[in-house]
Amino acid sequence: MISVRGAVMAVAEDGSGPPILFIHGFPFDRTMWQNQVESLPGWRRLAPDLRGFGLSDPVAVPQDQTIAGYADDLAALLAELGIGQAIVCGLSMGGYVAFELWRRHQALCRALILSNTRAEPDTPEATEQRDAMMDAIRTRGAQAVIDSMLDRVLAPRSRETRPDIVSHVRSMMARTPPTGMIAALAAMRGRADSTDLLGKIAVPTLIVAGSDDALIPVGLHQSLASRIPGARLEVITGAGHLAPLEQPDTFNRVAGDFLNSIG
Ligand code: MLT
Repeated sequence: MISVRGAVMAVAEDGSGPPILFIHGFPFDRTMWQNQVESLPGWRRLAPDLRGFGLSDPVAVPQDQTIAGYADDLAALLAELGIGQAIVCGLSMGGYVAFELWRRHQALCRALILSNTRAEPDTPEATEQRDAMMDAIRTRGAQAVIDSMLDRVLAPRSRETRPDIVSHVRSMMARTPPTGMIAALAAMRGRADSTDLLGKIAVPTLIVAGSDDALIPVGLHQSLASRIPGARLEVITGAGHLAPLEQPDTFNRVAGDFLNSIG
């Protein structure tokens, strides 16, 4: 548990070597990275719960939360740990946070791994869906999110053959405090367009997509990779929106190859 910017953050940590910072998506927590935290020898693996998620402190004013605020928390966390540079690995909303880390704290980012994410901001339709989801959470709590997202975040193969993963994802959603969910929805709804950053990303970058990601299709990852100089794209067959959790061996192999290539 580490105190940053007025909040206590929970961080899973294992290994030693150059640091990797894993940033979870919505509405998950540090445990979505458990296979990565337990693997990838030779690297110091850090997976925090963002403010409002998991065991970290709640968000004080949910409507005011921003993606930049999450990024500033993580920059402060790295400073608190005495880390000057890390490989930044974000999934989906964690990818939105990774873009803000690049925008606001570029010197901290040694390389980027962007999994199941996009650089574009919300469309007007997505904004309306965020508002509807916030209303549904206010009346029905986390169950509203489970009903709407659980089936869509996992590939058919994971849903049909991996009850343990289904149950893990359901538990993460069920234990996320509603205020943390509303804060994250407000943050994602108002997030900046990061497409203007892409051509200027000057560190090694790996993009990871799931062939069966129903939320962010492979095509968007191809377009993301094509706009970042020198970026590598890996598409994980049979994975959905949670590629590192659904196909950990393949994810760790492609991430490990990428990490080895940058030393
Ligand atoms: C996530 O997995 O973090 C969310 O699905 C991202 C989003 O809703 O834009």
